[in-house]
Amino acid sequence: MSFHPIEQAPGRLNRSELAVPGSQPQMFEKAAQSDVDVIFLDLEDSVAPDEKERARNNIVKALNEVDWNSKTMSVRINGLDTHYMYRDVVDVVEQAGERLDLIMIPKVGTAADVYAVDMLVTQIEDATGLTKRIGFEHIIETALGMQNVSAIAGASMRNESLHFGVADYAASMRARTTVIGGVNENYAVLTDPGSDGSRQVHWGDMWHSAIANMVVAARANGLRPIDGPFGDFSDPEGYKAAAYRAAALGCEGKWAIHPSQVALANEVMSPTEAEVDKANRILAAMAEAEAAGKGAVSLDGRLIDYASIRQAEVLVEKARQIAA
Ligand code: GLV
Ligand code: MG
Repeated sequence: MSFHPIEQAPGRLNRSELAVPGSQPQMFEKAAQSDVDVIFLDLEDSVAPDEKERARNNIVKALNEVDWNSKTMSVRINGLDTHYMYRDVVDVVEQAGERLDLIMIPKVGTAADVYAVDMLVTQIEDATGLTKRIGFEHIIETALGMQNVSAIAGASMRNESLHFGVADYAASMRARTTVIGGVNENYAVLTDPGSDGSRQVHWGDMWHSAIANMVVAARANGLRPIDGPFGDFSDPEGYKAAAYRAAALGCEGKWAIHPSQVALANEVMSPTEAEVDKANRILAAMAEAEAAGKGAVSLDGRLIDYASIRQAEVLVEKARQIAA
């Protein structure tokens, strides 16, 4: 390990994160009773300009009055380039800061953006005597945000997670996309002709490098990397495929823009029984190896060593959190 310590964000479960428009209070109860890990009540892009103030009031009221059980509660504020943003922070933290766990900052572009919100939240916490520190989630969804993702990830002790906002990212990059978070048939390789002259098209994942980049910045700073929206909520298989790809790269959660996507995210982002079983066997085998003075042994015909312990411990800890 490097001598540089990495402080880990608070260990919250973040397999699924449900987006709920602040202007639709009739959706709040259902969200509260769902199996989702994190809910973000939105003041940004799902709320029309004329509805911003009403949505803010709905959110303050709901944070105080709805029984959200043990859910992690977040509010997505408006961007720092709008005049809504300061009042989003001031009203929500002053009036509902006790129940608020996280603030989600959209379209974050630089470390200074994080600093500005941190300063505001710190003043409100001090003035109101809030003792629980409110955390930050950042949506990486612009070219500027992706360029500065490492600096953003390290910009505040409040930082907890980075989210890949594929819809705005596509817009910012002027990428040619079809469906939010989906694949694109034009992002493909064409094989050379086979012996019969036929060629195959192999579709690729155009978001691979962006997500992988964000995961590096998140993990290097002890934050949770979370994959963002998948727009076609009538395509659960497509959703799961996207979630599995993100999980393979290290993401530990995915957004749900429709309640039906919560169970899909929880399923994909939870270790299976077989995986937990295997992890426990790895830990047992390595403990035995260590007692015999060995650093690496074989299990089921494969090499395991100290790196396997670290992977297994992460899995077992996740399973423990889910069971709890
Ligand atoms: C989320 O905010 C996105 O733009 O994908
Ligand atoms: Mg967005």
